[in-house]
Amino acid sequence: MQVAAVPTDHRYRKRRPLETGNGAIIAMTSDNLVKVCELSDIPLNDMRCVSLSDRNVLVANTEAGVFVADEMCTHEDARLCDGNLSGTKVKCPLHGSRFELTTGQVLDDPADTNLVTYPVTIVDKSIYISLNLTESDKQKT
Ligand code: FES
Repeated sequence: MQVAAVPTDHRYRKRRPLETGNGAIIAMTSDNLVKVCELSDIPLNDMRCVSLSDRNVLVANTEAGVFVADEMCTHEDARLCDGNLSGTKVKCPLHGSRFELTTGQVLDDPADTNLVTYPVTIVDKSIYISLNLTESDKQKT
C-alpha cells in the first residue's frame, strides 16, 4: 500500500513516539490486521503516538483495555498523545476538548467532530488494529 507519509507536528511533543520500522506497516494479516506496537511499549494508564506508513495513531493502555484512535485532535493540529489520559478519556493539550476513546465521541467544545477509532486485537502481546481497506487498497498491498 503506497500512501503519503503524514507529517508529524512536533510543537506539542512530550512523549517519544514509537516507530514501527521505518514508519512502515510491519505486519498485515488476511484479516486486515495491522501491527501497531508491542503491548509492553505502552505502560498501563499511559499513551503513545505511533507512526504507521499511512497514518499516525494514538495508543492508550487503560484499565478498561487498549484503545487506538487517530492521533490528531479533530479541532486543530494538536497531538492527543501530548494531552492527558484519564481512564478512557483523553484531553487535548491545546484547547482542552476531551474524547472518549471507547467510542471516539467528543465530550467538550471546542472540538465538534468525533475521533476516528480502530478495533483493537491483541495477539501474543502485540497490538493490532483493523483497517477498513477498500478493494483498491488491498490490491496495492
Ligand atoms: S486543538 Fe484540540 S481542542 Fe483545539
